[in-house]
Formats: sequence, structure tokens, C-alpha cells
Amino acid sequence: MSDPAAAQSFINLNALLDNPVFAGGFGLASLGAVLAFARRGALATAGMIRRRMLVNVEISRQDPSYPWILAWLSQPREQTSFLAKKLTRINKLSVTTSTSSTPNGSTRASFFLQPGYGRHIVKYKHAYIAVNREKQATARTNTGEPHETVELTTLYAHRHIFEDVFSEARALALQANEGKTVVYSVRNFDWVPLGEPRRKRPLGSVILDKGVKEDIVNDAKDFLARRQWYVDRGIPYRRGYLLYGPPGSGKSSFIQALAGELDFSVAMVNLSEIGVTDDKLAFLLTKLPERTILLLEDADSAFVNRRKRDADGYSGGTVTFSGLLNALDGLSAGEERIAFLTTNHVELLDPALIRPGRVDMMVRIGEATRYQAAQMWDRFYGDVDVDGTYRERFLKRLDDLGLFREATDSESPPRTSTAAIQGLFLFNKNDMEGAISMAEHLIPQKLEPEK
Ligand SMILES: Nc1ncnc2c1ncn2[C@@H]1O[C@H](COP(=O)(O)OP(=O)(O)O)[C@@H](O)[C@H]1O
Ligand SMILES: [Mg+2]
Repeated sequence: MSDPAAAQSFINLNALLDNPVFAGGFGLASLGAVLAFARRGALATAGMIRRRMLVNVEISRQDPSYPWILAWLSQPREQTSFLAKKLTRINKLSVTTSTSSTPNGSTRASFFLQPGYGRHIVKYKHAYIAVNREKQATARTNTGEPHETVELTTLYAHRHIFEDVFSEARALALQANEGKTVVYSVRNFDWVPLGEPRRKRPLGSVILDKGVKEDIVNDAKDFLARRQWYVDRGIPYRRGYLLYGPPGSGKSSFIQALAGELDFSVAMVNLSEIGVTDDKLAFLLTKLPERTILLLEDADSAFVNRRKRDADGYSGGTVTFSGLLNALDGLSAGEERIAFLTTNHVELLDPALIRPGRVDMMVRIGEATRYQAAQMWDRFYGDVDVDGTYRERFLKRLDDLGLFREATDSESPPRTSTAAIQGLFLFNKNDMEGAISMAEHLIPQKLEPEK
């Protein structure tokens, strides 16, 4: 023993052991050590039991089931036993507020209470489930938002309860959106519902020219019925539509109504929006919610971008043409989806877009035709204008104003939009005469060049 201090204590220890009182004390001390060892063993056993006897699932906030589970947890439950009542009361709640505008222009806020962060216990059927909702110390690299998870733990013997929990939570979420169309838009790097789910817009409320609506609706339904056909042939199960035409012709309204008809949601990206870049779009597509129409509005901005980029090498912080193509049929496109592109400027369109799987169907949604004007009239005033005399006067008036004249090489007559007709009717809700006499307002106003 080279260390003098250690040698010293060794000698002291020997001296102590010779002393009977201290020897007894040493015995006690070693008993303590044994107990401590046993306790550690017990803890390890508890840990082992915990590992063996408990099962848990962790749901991250990025997972589509995350909001369903939170909503499911905040369901009021009928608790019968006293213990269950005491144990399973969720005392901490957090609130999510969403606002939506009502048709009359006011805003309506709704509040959704869900279990707050921390630990809770819920009882479901015969099982107790421990819930732990927490923000993690790590953050998502792309948004800086902290990771957030909900962890559910139950006894191993009750593990099958989780399947029921998930299917019940999902059913609950679907039921809440029944008869509604959820419209997702982009926030940071996530799809977030844009306000409250809206009541489904009936297809009949969007008036397109004769047969146009039916063509698209039938095509989409046919596509949805052919999944296996694509799978069998190893073709990506995708279909793209391009709707083009002047603003206010009902393109966006139609897509929303179609989504309702197919029982789909809409995930909307405005390609002209600064900050929506190729990378971001590609990332978002990897987590498109299920049964969702991808709607890329203002697709022309991607064409403009290409020109700009070719010219000065800068894309302006928005989606480029190659980003758009990648979104439609590149690696990020996903195996299954329906996409709609809209543009007011088809003349900027790149022919490379029109290819199966990118854009399979291209439809012009144009200025109001006589057919549309008549249909819109009937929807508005059909109940009071029973024999259609006012309608014929209205159509004659529009004829006289030249609004339905065919364009020729030498002349392009004025055109009006369905949005303008809707505006006219809304202004004259109970006044057919008023609508007829104000019809000249449908002629688009030309802006005088500044002097
Ligand atoms: N063809 C149409 N049928 C019914 N409503 C229409 C039609 N076109 C436009 N509207 C109405 O005009 C407004 C703007 O239409 P929107 O769908 O946004 O047009 P777009 O997307 O073609 O610019 C909406 O309130 C919509 O209800
Ligand atoms: Mg639109």
C-alpha cells in the first residue's frame, strides 16, 4: 500500500474491528449496505415490471392523430366509481381558439378545450390510461417550434384498448366534420385548418357553363373508382386538373364544392405567396392530410418565376416551375392524390405541364354565358319568377348590352363574370326589376388611362 493515508485508515479499521462495540456497529452498517442494495434491486424490479407490465404509445404533434386524441381526451366521460371520479378528473385544460367569419361578415370565435400539459389519468372501458402531454426540450429544426407529444400508458393486459381509443378518436373527428369541408392552408411548415370547417358547398350552387361541371365531377369520380386499375399497372395514382379563366368565374368555389361532393378536404397553397418555396412545398406534400384535394392557386406565378429566374437567377422566394413540376409528379408528389391548379393567365402556361399525372384535364372556366346567367337567375328568383318572364327580360337586356356576343377577329365584345352577376342579384335580393335595370353595371369598367 503506497498511499500513506489509505494505509492509515486500514490500520484504524483493524483497530476498530478489535473493539467489540465498533464491530457490532460495523455489522449494522453492512446491514444498511445490504438493504440499500436490496432497495436498488427493488427499484430495478419495479422498473422491469413497469417495462414488462405497462405499454405506452407516444403520439407526436406532427401525427394526424394528435388532434383527434386530444379531442377524444376532452370528451366528457361518465365515471361510475368514486375512485375513478377522483382519479380521472382532468383539472388542467388548455384552450385553442379559432375564429371564422360568418356570411354576414362578423367573426365567430369558438373555443376548444383540451387536456393541458402535464399528467392526467382517464378511465376508458375497464382500463385506466395515464396521459402525459408535454413539450419536449428539442425543437423542430425547420420551424423552431418545440416538439410536442402525448403519451398514453396503460397496463400490458389492457394494451388492446389503444386500438379502440384510436378508432374511436378518429370516428369522433370524422363525425365532427360530417357535412363540412375542411380547408387547410399553410402555416409555417404545417397544414392548419383555415378557420372552422365550412358547411359543404352544394355543387348546385356553382353554376358553370353547360356540361362543364358534370365533366369534371364524373372524371374525378371515375378516377376515385379506379384505384386498383392504377395499382395493378404500377402507375402512380394521381390526377391533375387545371382550371383557367378570368377571376370571379367560380374556379375556387367549384373546387370547394367538388371536395364536398367527394367527401374530401382541400389543402390550399397560393403559389404567388412569398415564402412558399420549392423546399417548403415539397415538405408539405410529404404530409398532405388523407382524402384531400391539393389546390395550387395562381399556378402562373411559377411560370413567371421561371422567366425571372432564367433572366436574373433569382426566384423571388416563391415556388419555381421545377418546384411545381416536382410537386406534381416528382419525388415529393406522393403516390396518391388529386391536384387542382388554377390560373387567371393561361397564356403564361408552360406546355410541359400538360402531361398525364401532371395535368390530365384542362378546363376553361370563362366569363358568364347566357346559359349560366339564366341558371343563376333561377336560383335567385326562381320562386317568385315562376313563369320566367322576368328572366327572359333580364337575358334580353344582357343581349342588348352585347354581353353574350361572340368575339370576332376585329372585335372583342364586353364580357361579364358570374361573380358580377351574383353581386348584382345580391344587391337586388328582393327586386327583380332592380336587377334588370341595373344590368349595365355588369359591363366591366375600363379604367381611364391617367393623364
Ligand atoms: N360560376 C359561379 N357560380 C356560382 N357562384 C359564383 C360563380 N362564379 C363566381 N361566383 C361567386 O363569386 C365569388 C368569387 O368566386 P371564386 O370561386 O372565388 O372565383 P375564381 O376562383 O374563379 O376567381 C364567390 O363568392 C362565388 O360564390
Ligand atoms: Mg380563385
